[in-house]
Amino acid sequence: MTQYVGAIDQGTTSTRFMIFDRSGAEIARHQLEHRQIFPASGWVEHDATEIWENTRKTIDVALGHAGLGPSDLAAIGITNQRETVVLWDKATGTPVAPAIVWQDTRTSALVEKLDAELIRSRTGLTPATYFSATKLQWLLDNGLRARAERGEILFGTIDSWLIWNLTGGLHITDVTNASRTMLMDLAKLEWDDELLSLFDIPRAMLPQIRSSGEVYGTALDGVPIAAAIGDQQAALFGQTCLSPGEAKCTYGTGGFLLMNTGTTPIRSSHGLLTTVAYRFGEQEPAYALEGSIAAAGAAVQWLRDQLGILDSAATSETLAATVDDSAGVCFVPAFSGLFAPYWRPDARGAIVGLSRFHTAAHITRAALEAIGYQTRDVVEAMAQDSGTTLDILKVDGGVTANDLCMQLQADILGVPVSRPAVAETTALGAAYAAGLAVGFWSSVDDLRANWREDRRWQPTWTAERRAEGTTRWRAAIDRTLDWVI
Ligand code: G3P
Repeated sequence: MTQYVGAIDQGTTSTRFMIFDRSGAEIARHQLEHRQIFPASGWVEHDATEIWENTRKTIDVALGHAGLGPSDLAAIGITNQRETVVLWDKATGTPVAPAIVWQDTRTSALVEKLDAELIRSRTGLTPATYFSATKLQWLLDNGLRARAERGEILFGTIDSWLIWNLTGGLHITDVTNASRTMLMDLAKLEWDDELLSLFDIPRAMLPQIRSSGEVYGTALDGVPIAAAIGDQQAALFGQTCLSPGEAKCTYGTGGFLLMNTGTTPIRSSHGLLTTVAYRFGEQEPAYALEGSIAAAGAAVQWLRDQLGILDSAATSETLAATVDDSAGVCFVPAFSGLFAPYWRPDARGAIVGLSRFHTAAHITRAALEAIGYQTRDVVEAMAQDSGTTLDILKVDGGVTANDLCMQLQADILGVPVSRPAVAETTALGAAYAAGLAVGFWSSVDDLRANWREDRRWQPTWTAERRAEGTTRWRAAIDRTLDWVI
């Protein structure tokens, strides 16, 4: 019997393939970064062909590291950056435009015209440039509409794009990814005709919506492709937040706090999103409340790549640790506007409170603190919407390797922060979903039994220091709004 399950984790900045055993332990991985293309301020693009080629390479190299072949995998699950739009030629499979990434704000004028109440009640989402619909509309309006109407072009989020390539032409998506397009009816879990006509999108270009865990088809000479699930929902599943009230925060390029709300979707009145958490086969779907933060690790990436004051993301910890605090500096990384709970695409980033005393260390520390304060904003909104306060925050994702950032997170929130032994919970969640679909794991109890804590950070700040910091943070947020672009 095969001993392993594979997971493709196609994220905003990199793609990795990971292989897990039955205990949820990592056997091997390979990871490749892809280009971030910024053609204009607020625009973010990816090359979908590069992403597919990287996916193929990571699978081959990870299998090689482990000394395994495809037939050693019981199944492969896919998890992916959500909302990003790929359009490709139905006949040749070649992308017909750059992929427009979830962070891209070029469609803010289209978003302003939307009927917010209709969108909220139908999709559970707050109208924003973040979601796929206006990006797709923009691409059609900018030269591709006639071809789309002739049925020559297909649309997909990254999950669809990978499944199409892996299986040689299946055009499907899963319900968690579909719930992020702003085109799906959240109650019926189907594409919504009124929204399709509002955004002027031909139905024939959309993938079929399927569950998050079932055998869709095969790849690599017969390995079942048995799960597709948006990366944040996959992390929720990988953290085994399977009961109502259980929550996690994943820090990657962005930061995403999701709370499982069970089989009932809870509508937010405090700036959070209602989304599908997962649905397996014909089972009832589970829903989640989500607080999305546009830039978390992106703040550190920007210091490294655009300002050049860090050699690597890891240096952010050592440099920030050379000072005791940010000495009054606040950094709001509103590069893609502000997401939850503010939803202001017009906001732009700011570093405030500078004097000649301040150094790269203070600015870097302020970037790490910003991750904590943005999370605090969504935790507060979550408490107001759900009536539940967190007594611990489960965390995962690349940024959690930064111990100082996690200590600051506990300090700023005033609750303990817990990191699991497998920090790559996104990939693990996709592997779990695929493994359950093919009977590799028999029930979610097996998954719960696999979860282990690696480290816990206790808050050390006084209540006064926390309140002072929060007041300063909110004042900095005010300064990023209504910036004249
Ligand atoms: O909604 C966007 C999200 O799915 C991207 O996640 O981890 O690539 O920042 P990440």
